[in-house]
Amino acid sequence: MDHESSSDRLRRFIQFLLDRDYLTRPQLAKVARFRSMIDTRVAFLCSLQGYISLREAYALLADQVNSGKRFGELAVEKGLLAQEQVNEVLQLAHDKFLMFQECLVATSTIDRDALLPVLQEFEEEAQSVEVRVDKEIPEPVQGSLSELDEIPDTISDGRLRAALRRVKQFATVPKVVERALQLLNDPNVKLEAVEDALLSDPALCAQILRLVNSAFFGVRSEVSTISRAVVTLGLKAVRQVVSATLVIRRFKELPEEKIRETWWHTVLTSQWSRALAELRRDVGAEVAAVAGLVHDVGVPVLLQSFPESMAAVERMIDQGIALPEAEKRAFGMTHAEVGSFLCHFWAFPDPLIQAVHHHHTPLPILQSLHDLEPLTRIVGAACALSSLVAETPQLGNLRSLSEEFVQFHGLSIEKLEALAPDVFQEAHRLAAFLS
Ligand SMILES: [Fe+2]
Ligand SMILES: [Fe+2]
Repeated sequence: MDHESSSDRLRRFIQFLLDRDYLTRPQLAKVARFRSMIDTRVAFLCSLQGYISLREAYALLADQVNSGKRFGELAVEKGLLAQEQVNEVLQLAHDKFLMFQECLVATSTIDRDALLPVLQEFEEEAQSVEVRVDKEIPEPVQGSLSELDEIPDTISDGRLRAALRRVKQFATVPKVVERALQLLNDPNVKLEAVEDALLSDPALCAQILRLVNSAFFGVRSEVSTISRAVVTLGLKAVRQVVSATLVIRRFKELPEEKIRETWWHTVLTSQWSRALAELRRDVGAEVAAVAGLVHDVGVPVLLQSFPESMAAVERMIDQGIALPEAEKRAFGMTHAEVGSFLCHFWAFPDPLIQAVHHHHTPLPILQSLHDLEPLTRIVGAACALSSLVAETPQLGNLRSLSEEFVQFHGLSIEKLEALAPDVFQEAHRLAAFLS
C-alpha cells in the first residue's frame, strides 16, 4: 500500500464512498466538476505574488463552488485582481523555476521553511552583482529593527524583493526605538524597563513628551516625565507614541518643500481619522489618529529610496496619471504597498497594516474585501477628504463627493461640513506643535 499512487488511492477512495453510500453518482459528478474547476494552483500563486491574502484566496476558491466560474474570472469580477494580474499568474503557473520550488517542497526534498533562506541566498548573490553596478545605493546608517525580520515570503518577484530590500535600508530605526518597541510588545514587561530604554535617547524622550502633550492623546494635565507618560497613557498608547515618532522622523528627512505638503496632508488626515472614529465609534479615536499619521509613511521612504525616479513620477502626474499608477510604473510598487510593508516590518497591529495598504483602494474593491477593518474605511475616507479639501477655503469641494463615497462611509455632506472647522483647527494646532 506504501507505493500506491495518488490517482490509485483517489480511485479507491471514490469507490469506497460510493459503496458505502456516502456519495451518490450525481454528487460525484458535481464534485468532479468542481475539482476540475477550482484553480488551487492559480489561487496559491496569486497569494504568493502578494496580490491577495491567503484568506482571500481561500474565500474565492470556496465561492467557486456556486459560481461555476474560473478563479481568475471570479477574482476580477469581485475586483480583487486586475485582468493583467490574472494573466501574469496564469503565465507564472507555467514558470518552471517556481514550479520546481513547489516540487522540492511537495516531495519533502527541502521543507518550505528551509527553502526560503536558500532562495534568499540565491537572490542575494544576484543582488550583490547588481549593487556593485549601482553605486547610488547608500549604506544603511542605523541599526535595523530586526536583522532577521525578512521580506514576507508572499513576495516572490525578484525585482520587487530587490526594491523592497532597498526600501528596507531606509526603514531602519535607531537601536533605542527598536529596543523600546520590543519591550512594549511584551505584555509582561516592567514599566521601569521601558522607561530606561527610552531615557537613553533624550531627543526621543523630548519627541514623546511633545506628542503626549499635544492634542493627540487628549491628556488633560501636562505630562513632563517619561514615567508619567507611561503611567498616564498605558503601554499600548506609549507604543503608538513611539511608532508615531518613527513616522515623524521619516517625514523630517524629506527635502523642505516636500515636507510642507506631505506633512500637512498627514496631519490633516490624522485629524479627520480621529473625527470619523469619534463619529462611528467602532475604533478608538487615538488609534485612528495614529493610523492617519502613519498612512502615507510609504511616501517619504519611496522618495528617499528612489530619488532618481522622482522626476519621472512627477512627469507622469503632470500628464494626468494617478499617483499610485505612476508609482507602480516608476518603482514597481505604490507608496501604500511600501507603507504596509514597513508597518509589517515594524510589527504594527494588523488593522493598521490593512488600513495603510488599502488607503487608495477604490471603493468597489474595498466593498468586496471579506475582512475589511473599520480602521481601513476611516483612514481611506480621511485621506480622500484631506486631498479634496487641503485648506478651509476649499470646503465647497465637499459638495463634489460622490453619493457612493458618502453612503459607503455612513456620512453626509452636512455632517462633514459641521466637523470640518474643528478638524482644521486641531490639525493646525498639531502641525504647529510637532514642527
Ligand atoms: Fe496615500
Ligand atoms: Fe494620503
